[in-house]
Amino acid sequence: MKPTLDLSAFQATGTETCFHDRHISAQIYAGLDGTNWRLRDYETRGGYQALRKILELGEVDGKPRGMTSDQVIAEVKASGLRGRGGAGFPTGLKWSFMPRQFPGAKYLVCNSDEGEPGTCKDRDILMFNPHIVIEGMAIAAYAMGVKVAYNYIHGEIFEVYERFEAALEEARAAGYLGDNLLGSTFSFQLHAVHGFGAYICGEETALLESIEGKKGQPRFKPPFPASYGLYGKPTTINNTETFAAVPWIIRNGSAPYLAIGKPNNGGTKIFSVVGDVQRPGNYEVPLGTPFATLLELAGGVRPGRTLKAVIPGGSSAPVLPAAIMNELTMDYDAIAKAGSMLGSGAVIVMDDTRCMVKSLLRLSYFYMHESCGQCTPCREGTGWLFRMVDRIAKGEGRIGDIDLLNSVADNIQGRTICALGDAAAMPVRAMIKHFRDEFVYLIEHKTAKVAAARPHPGLPPAGEGAVGAAERQVA
Ligand SMILES: Cc1cc2nc3c(=O)[nH]c(=O)nc-3n(C[C@H](O)[C@H](O)[C@H](O)COP(=O)(O)O)c2cc1C
Ligand code: SF4
Repeated sequence: MKPTLDLSAFQATGTETCFHDRHISAQIYAGLDGTNWRLRDYETRGGYQALRKILELGEVDGKPRGMTSDQVIAEVKASGLRGRGGAGFPTGLKWSFMPRQFPGAKYLVCNSDEGEPGTCKDRDILMFNPHIVIEGMAIAAYAMGVKVAYNYIHGEIFEVYERFEAALEEARAAGYLGDNLLGSTFSFQLHAVHGFGAYICGEETALLESIEGKKGQPRFKPPFPASYGLYGKPTTINNTETFAAVPWIIRNGSAPYLAIGKPNNGGTKIFSVVGDVQRPGNYEVPLGTPFATLLELAGGVRPGRTLKAVIPGGSSAPVLPAAIMNELTMDYDAIAKAGSMLGSGAVIVMDDTRCMVKSLLRLSYFYMHESCGQCTPCREGTGWLFRMVDRIAKGEGRIGDIDLLNSVADNIQGRTICALGDAAAMPVRAMIKHFRDEFVYLIEHKTAKVAAARPHPGLPPAGEGAVGAAERQVA
């Protein structure tokens, strides 16, 4: 699909980071320059107006000002906002599951673990616009009758955790957090927590275990967090970008938000465009933007290269070949229809120099390494997958290995406690479905089909085979 926009308006003007001027209809990254993260800057951009709007006291024309919890939830439902953490679950609907009349403690949790390979948007939201998350969480807490919340931040990016703590201090001092916010009866405390870098702690129930100080391993579901969450209490968990979308919706209304995207796919989405592009980075664009436009914003593939394939939603999403991607719009429904998922929004671009066997080897290693080990299909299966792909990559594979790989993936998918098992299995099946010829070629010729992926004739260490010396070292 050809881009329909004049992209000259979006050329970078300064330092090329997440806050460069290459977004379309930005809502979360709008007005950021990399330094203006403080409270006064956020207020200048209209920050905390949405919180003021819902908490407004008094009456106008005999009707109460402000918004009730039901009205806030209805507005978020009508906006079509879907969770930005991976599954795309409708946010307003999730909020309505919270048993608001539950008499004891209830919690709200922000998932800023962001461990999905390729994804780097949440850390930039927290670094350059932290108050938008605080405001979004305060509105969510009001809507669900929650008084205490936590933001769980990935442990390997400590400067982001420190930045968020600094923003929390500002919000507390200004009365946006604490008792009786803005003179209302609503009180809300928000705390930051940091993890220690385990990918599995991004899974919502493993994350809850980790906050509780336990080993981060997923829980069986049901019961779901809405009834048995943090410390066994009703809990709602949303992704950082999901909360960051909320102030715009409350300030401007659900209809304009929905109108920016596509039906059932409201608003903007931040895509982390990574891999073989000239200007990798975070791009906030309306859902439904053609992939070709997004690729062009990111500078396209390097000169002399052609697009080969894209993983459109982080490493757990099935790969799609260029022919499909070039016709695709970037929204939940279109990508699902094409056989993949929007996931976390990391768009991993691969050009014609990429060997798919080698790419799968790297992915399989990751999932084997990150499996928490609780369930047998995932613990054992991810190791099998890696070892079989490794065998093929070394030029020692048998033709039956290809079907065996599919069979092992089949025996993992849908048979585990959490979705990490599916995330390990889906890339295998998609790589074989779309690029079987490369697996067959490597098995038959004992060298990669993609010439650029072959080792330099003088260099391969003894026994290293066709591809993957670096991967083998990490193994
Ligand atoms: C292995 C695994 C890792 C995950 N990592 C993240 C993550 O880093 N950030 C995130 O928001 N969601 C992650 N999720 C999804 C969460 O479990 C959960 O669905 C999400 O935080 C809900 O928020 P949302 O409704 O706003 O998308 C992960 C899921 C799995 C199975
Ligand atoms: S699927 Fe894997 S990561 Fe998830 S609980 Fe089972 S062993 Fe752990």
